[in-house]
Amino acid sequence: MATNNLAAALAELTAKADSALTIVTTAHDGEPSGCLVGFHSQCSIEPWRYAVWLSKANHTYRSALLADHLAVHLVASGDHDLAAHFGSETGDEVDKFAGIAWEPGAGGAPLLERLPNRFVGRRLDLLDTGGDHVCAVLEPVTVAVAGSFTPLRLSGVGDVVPGHPA
Ligand SMILES: Cc1cc2nc3c(=O)[nH]c(=O)nc-3n(C[C@H](O)[C@H](O)[C@H](O)COP(=O)(O)O)c2cc1C
Repeated sequence: MATNNLAAALAELTAKADSALTIVTTAHDGEPSGCLVGFHSQCSIEPWRYAVWLSKANHTYRSALLADHLAVHLVASGDHDLAAHFGSETGDEVDKFAGIAWEPGAGGAPLLERLPNRFVGRRLDLLDTGGDHVCAVLEPVTVAVAGSFTPLRLSGVGDVVPGHPA
């Protein structure tokens, strides 16, 4: 299969998985950062580990390099506006947290009031395999689970243009 065909087929394949979306936040020197993240997964059972992949182009990535903790928020189907905000604006140009209710959680990681299903993880390691995203492996330290939940999925945000190209 030619490279272009491979990429197109992989895009089609991963679209079928229709990942649930998260918003990952972090803070450095008291300045909050955060972006919409579709690349995320539990990656160990014993002990619990969770991985998120951050684009090297993102403000959030640069903040995460300097932070000890990241918060991972599950995005509900009714939170498209918040997903669009965190996925299309960039902290390089605007204060994304202006007008957003949040409080510092473990290690100072920003907790978004509107997204109560979330955990904070201590950043254990970063894995850079030379691609445009870097894997941050997290050790969960606090978790909150709130009621019934329907995820917002990739297919629900086709209208959102990322604030940074990958
Ligand atoms: C559907 C969708 C999924 C995304 N997934 C990721 C992702 O997994 N990792 C990432 O770093 N950025 C991802 N982004 C891009 C960032 O959310 C976007 O570029 C954001 O504006 C970056 O903000 P920042 O510069 O303030 O960090 C995604 C964007 C969209 C629209």
